[in-house]
Amino acid sequence: MSVSTTPAPAFGTVMASRMALATTDDGVFGAVEVVPTGPVELHPAAHALHYGSACFEGLKAHPGVDGKVRLFRPQRHAERLGVSAELLSLPVPPVELVTGALRELVAANLDDVPPAPGALYLRPVLLGVDPNIGAAAAPSTEALLYVLASPVGDYFRGDGGLTLAIETELPRTTPQFGQVKCGANYAMALGVTRRARAEHGADQVLFAPGGDVQETGAANFLLLDDRRVVTKALDPSFLHGVTRDSILTLARDLGYEVEERDLGIEEVLDWARTGEAALAGTAAVLAPVGAFVHGGRRHPVGDGSMGPNTARLREALLAIQRGEAADPHDWTQPV
Ligand SMILES: Cc1ncc(COP(=O)(O)O)c(C=O)c1O
Repeated sequence: MSVSTTPAPAFGTVMASRMALATTDDGVFGAVEVVPTGPVELHPAAHALHYGSACFEGLKAHPGVDGKVRLFRPQRHAERLGVSAELLSLPVPPVELVTGALRELVAANLDDVPPAPGALYLRPVLLGVDPNIGAAAAPSTEALLYVLASPVGDYFRGDGGLTLAIETELPRTTPQFGQVKCGANYAMALGVTRRARAEHGADQVLFAPGGDVQETGAANFLLLDDRRVVTKALDPSFLHGVTRDSILTLARDLGYEVEERDLGIEEVLDWARTGEAALAGTAAVLAPVGAFVHGGRRHPVGDGSMGPNTARLREALLAIQRGEAADPHDWTQPV
């Protein structure tokens, strides 16, 4: 089989022909099956539909310059799915089961891998399926794990930086759900983001409850200049991005000083005058921030386009993902 040559459609709207599935028996996961992508059977009383026992992951398999397709850090994503599952009291799928499912699924969908800069986006989903509408205060014993594959292009168009509205009142999520990748978190951010779009023409919201700069609705936030990369230190209040970790590692490799610490709004706006800001995430890779909106004012970041340090780190990561550069940290897994 060969990598497809047709361009990728809009992010997340088209599914590849195959998906992977595994179910539990008494809370223990059975074998993974790869089946045609299509509806899954779910009892209308399923725990996930009523009590939110649902979480997911997002990662990519990248077409390489050598024709190989490489999964990017599947183990880290499988581990993070385990963190989400644990925090939702769901059966935790073994890491090897998830990484095995990802490998099998990519191998079965090679014809649907778009050319670079596209990739095959993979979406593992874990649902609590006990048919019990009386289980508001009890976990689901049984779970369904499925993995969708979707050919995608660049999430962000790349024509100039993103506009971020800084939100200082509302948090992105609750303290106990910061590290859970679950739909409720995105639902909570949606209204705030829609308002910021309508009122300020913002692309995304940078959540900074009480002045503590955390992350946007779907990506981590970084400041960069010629010497430094600064981002919030890991704590349970936000999602620990695999891209964030990869960019910080590459930054250290390239001689940047990496500062993981608290960030305040004044510092961010000050930094914008001379430095760069970016969003890090599987979909965004490393996307430049062109302006902030705060206190009813627009604060441009540099000239509003991608700065040299953002471009350098973005390219360094993409080169590893595409097999153009050595992979000293063993992040990629050829399928
Ligand atoms: C809330 C949130 N923060 C950060 C990230 C970035 O995580 P990653 O780099 O692992 O994709 C994502 C994307 O999954 C996200 O949804």
